[in-house]
Amino acid sequence: HGPPIVPVKFILEDPEGLTSTEQSEWDLMGGEGENLLELAIEHGINIEHACGGVCACSTCHVYVEQGMDQVSESDDDEEDRVEEAPGLQVNSRLACQCKIEGKGPITVHVPAWNRNAVKEVPH
Ligand code: FES
Repeated sequence: HGPPIVPVKFILEDPEGLTSTEQSEWDLMGGEGENLLELAIEHGINIEHACGGVCACSTCHVYVEQGMDQVSESDDDEEDRVEEAPGLQVNSRLACQCKIEGKGPITVHVPAWNRNAVKEVPH
């Protein structure tokens, strides 16, 4: 992906669970073509990604609060999948399918249940 010049803020409802720190706001720099899941993981924000980022679960569900026009549009696969996620909103996205496309800024809200979603899904 491109050079890390796009400002992306992550707001975590459960910083302890995702990062083992108390820092709830993370100002990161992403690169064009990078997806939000990769960016978060690269910086130690462990957003759940049960399927490994191939749009086959909905555990990486996040809300894009700002800059929805700065990320790739969701395709049909993502839309079908995200509908299964708890807490669906109009700005719901799967972080692994959401690629940075513009110059930002982008704000991503990670709900507290992100960490628990896996356990609630029956296997
Ligand atoms: Fe499974 Fe994103 S990690 S859909």
